[in-house]
Amino acid sequence: MMLREWTMEDLDGIAALEAECFSDPWSRRMLADSFLSGQFYGVLLEEDGAIVAYGGVGVVFEDAEIQLIAVSEMYRRCGRGRMILENLLAEAKKRGAKRAFLEVRVSNASAQMLYLKCGFTGLYCRTRYYFDGEDAIVMKRELG
Ligand SMILES: CC(C)(COP(=O)(O)OP(=O)(O)OC[C@H]1O[C@@H](n2cnc3c(N)ncnc32)[C@H](O)[C@@H]1OP(=O)(O)O)[C@@H](O)C(=O)NCCC(=O)NCCS
Repeated sequence: MMLREWTMEDLDGIAALEAECFSDPWSRRMLADSFLSGQFYGVLLEEDGAIVAYGGVGVVFEDAEIQLIAVSEMYRRCGRGRMILENLLAEAKKRGAKRAFLEVRVSNASAQMLYLKCGFTGLYCRTRYYFDGEDAIVMKRELG
């Protein structure tokens, strides 16, 4: 198992896993735009030459935004999601972030459990945040 930063060459593989994991996946173009923005840090887990988990965070001044996190279905519940999230938060802190935010679907109990376990707390609800009308919960963690 190897944890490493994204490169341009990974974008196709990440886009493929993103499409497997979400009903509203980021396209390769959206991933590339974020990756090249200069405010982005992306990390992935590679096993036997395949990308099995990835995440990405944007850092603007003191605020970090967890933008992406997913683990291939067969590889879940073994700590990979937590490893990716903790790595993103550590790098965001290194880059000067004092707090991290994220949005999660109200129906996504697995992700909410991960975020609660990693010290996030719910702030408020964003009504009809997603394209299909589902609400988002905004969560926050201090990085101090
Ligand atoms: C959310 C996701 C990234 C979690 O990845 P994971 O590798 O399975 O998570 P971990 O094994 O690191 O879990 C860490 C903790 O989170 C909680 N958790 C994760 N999945 C859970 C589940 N299905 N049910 C209950 N708790 C869960 C547990 O507390 C777990 O610790 P434990 O296994 O010691 O009990 C994964 O389910 C996923 O990729 N889902 C689809 C994409 C997605 O929804 N991304 C988030 C978008 S906001």
